[in-house]
Amino acid sequence: MEEYENKLIAEIEILRDNFIKTTEKLIKDVKRQDKIMLRSDKRQQQEYDELQRKFDEVAILQREIEDTQREVVFTMGAIGESRSKETGNHVRRVAQYSKIFALHYGMDEKEAEMLKQASPMHDIGKVAIPDAVLNKPGKFDEVERKIMDTHAELGYEMLKMSNRPLLKMAATVAYEHHEKWNGTGYPNQLKGEEIHIYGRITAMADVFDALGSDRVYKKSWDDEKIFSFFKEERGEHFDPKLVDIFFENLNEFLAVRDSLKDVSL
Ligand SMILES: [Fe+2]
Ligand SMILES: [Fe+2]
Repeated sequence: MEEYENKLIAEIEILRDNFIKTTEKLIKDVKRQDKIMLRSDKRQQQEYDELQRKFDEVAILQREIEDTQREVVFTMGAIGESRSKETGNHVRRVAQYSKIFALHYGMDEKEAEMLKQASPMHDIGKVAIPDAVLNKPGKFDEVERKIMDTHAELGYEMLKMSNRPLLKMAATVAYEHHEKWNGTGYPNQLKGEEIHIYGRITAMADVFDALGSDRVYKKSWDDEKIFSFFKEERGEHFDPKLVDIFFENLNEFLAVRDSLKDVSL
């Protein structure tokens, strides 16, 4: 009997030893596995961080390119306007009005924002118009008028070579901002939707702002006169749809005008 018990105890001890060894081995294995996983996790994390850093760099560069383009475009517009003694706020207001028109016309935010940046360039061609004509107080004679009118085509010629979408858009704006819906504008007497929407919008934005501002050749008009002018010119000078947008969203346009007043002329 005693011999049997001893044998049993010995067997139990062997079993216990085996159990302990197996458990220890298992724990070791798990720990090793953990270490391996940790190491590869770390490597993956490093690779991910590096990639993220590169993405950030590209994004910063992209933003810089866009900012530079915007600044160049805006400065060019301001140069065009300053040659004709118009204020920097004129181009700012035309920019904002154009975006409001674009959004209500149905353009998406990206295109509307682009037009906001391109429309201030409409008069860039004026840099090539002689001072004597450009800043003449009072009415132009026929020759002076012809010279002045070349600013649309001149602006287009300056910008058309660029492959940049923003400058291409600005070229269209410069070329077509004096065309009229009824076909009596210049330089190409385009009619209705033959005139690019960018040109039609800039025309409305530019004229609305010009009428409400003092210029070397005229005093500003009061609102009643401006509004009846747009009603008369609906479908004549201007795209009827844009005139409707103007009156339906008048508050938005007037808010821009109030926030960007001319300090002095
Ligand atoms: Fe113009
Ligand atoms: Fe203008």
